[in-house]
Amino acid sequence: MSLRRRLSAAVALTVAAAGVVMAAGTAAAATRHEAESAPATCDGLIESNHAGFSGSGFCNANNAAGAAAQFTVSAPAAGAATVNIRYANGGTSSRPADVLVNGAVAHAGSAFDPTGAWTTWVTKRLTVSLNAGDNIIRLNPTTAGGLPNLDYLEVDAPTSGKTTVWLAGDSTVASSSGSNVVGWGRELSNYLTTDATVVNSAIGGRSVQTWLYESAVTSTKNSAGECVLSSTAYAARWQAMLNASTGMKAGDHLFIQFGINDGSSTCPRHVGSARYRELLTTMVRAAQQRGAHPVLVTPVAALTCSGSTATPNRGFLTETLDVGRATGAPVIDLHKLSYTLYNGLRFCPFNGDYSSGPVGAFFANDHTHFEAAGARQIAGLVTKAVRDQQLALSAYLR
Ligand code: GCU
Ligand code: CA
Repeated sequence: MSLRRRLSAAVALTVAAAGVVMAAGTAAAATRHEAESAPATCDGLIESNHAGFSGSGFCNANNAAGAAAQFTVSAPAAGAATVNIRYANGGTSSRPADVLVNGAVAHAGSAFDPTGAWTTWVTKRLTVSLNAGDNIIRLNPTTAGGLPNLDYLEVDAPTSGKTTVWLAGDSTVASSSGSNVVGWGRELSNYLTTDATVVNSAIGGRSVQTWLYESAVTSTKNSAGECVLSSTAYAARWQAMLNASTGMKAGDHLFIQFGINDGSSTCPRHVGSARYRELLTTMVRAAQQRGAHPVLVTPVAALTCSGSTATPNRGFLTETLDVGRATGAPVIDLHKLSYTLYNGLRFCPFNGDYSSGPVGAFFANDHTHFEAAGARQIAGLVTKAVRDQQLALSAYLR
C-alpha cells in the first residue's frame, strides 16, 4: 500500500474511532452543508436510520449510476477550497463518483471505499477550485452501486485569492545558513503562483523545541530526559505566526519540517520522541484552529551511501507520521522522496568531494546542506507531493 493510502486509511480509522469529524479542528472558516437541507438535493431518500450522522439525517441516494447528491457552496473569493465529504459505505465495494464543480469534473471516479458499516462515518478530503460566489458541487456516481450514504460536505473556502505559506524548520529549509548554503524554503516560490507568498521562518540548527522556544531551552536535562525550559514564552517567529491579525489566517498553509537537530543527544537541541510529537501537535493544532492548512514534512535526507545506493538516515519519521494520523494533517515523506531522488541522480557511490561533480553542485560543503541547485530540486519534490497528494496548496502551483 502506498504511503498516501496508508495515511488516508489510518485517518479514516481515527475519525471512526473517535466519532468526531476530522475537519472540525482544521477549519475555523469551514462551512458545513448538510445533505438533508436545501438547497442540497438528493436523488433518493433522506433517512436517519443509521446513527452517527450530523444534523437530522443523511442522503441515501438510489443505487444507480447518475443518482447524484448536490450541494451549493458559496465562497467569498475564487481559489482553492478543501472539501471534506462525510459518508458511510456499509457495502463491500467502493462506490466511485465524479466530483463536479460548476458542471466540470474536478475529480473523476473519486473512490468512496467501504467503511465497514452503515453507522461508520468517515471523512474524505478533496481539493477543488471555487469561483467567488455560489458554486455547485455535485457527486455523481459512475457505477450501478450508486453513492455511499452522504452526511454532509464541509467546505473550507478561500477568504481571498491570496495565500501565505509559512515555513517552520531548520537549515535545510532556511533561506540561508551561511556560505553557499540554501534551504528548500528559499526555492519554493519558484513553483508557486504570485498569489502565494512564502514566509520562511526556518532557521539553521533548530530542533522543533529550540525553534519554538529559542534560548528558553536550557542545556540541562530533566529526569525524563528532556531539556529544561527556563520559560514557556514562545520565540518571536512563532508568536508572529500566531498573531491574530498578521499571522496565519484561514486558507494559509504551514509547512513544518524538523527532526534533524532534534536527534542530538545533548541539550538544548535534544528532543525525545513523546516531546517531539507533543510539540508538532501543538503547531498543527494552532494552524487548524485558524483555518490554515498544516502540512508535516519528514526530514529531508542527507546523502549517505551503501555502495551504489543512497540510504535512509534521519529519525523522527514514525513520530511525524503519528502526528499526521492523530491530527488529520497531511504528511509529505520528504525523507523518502529525497533519498529516492539521490538514487535517481546516481549520487552513490560518492568519493566525499563536495566541490565538484553532480554531488558538489547539489550539496554545499557537507552531506546535509544544499546549494541553490539542490535546494531547487528538493523544493520541486515538495511541490510535486503537494500536487500528487492533492493538498490545498496545489491550487497555487505554477
Ligand atoms: C442499505 C442501507 C442503506 C444504503 C443501502 C445501499 O439498504 O440501509 O442506508 O443506502 O444499503 O447499499 O446503498
Ligand atoms: Ca443507497
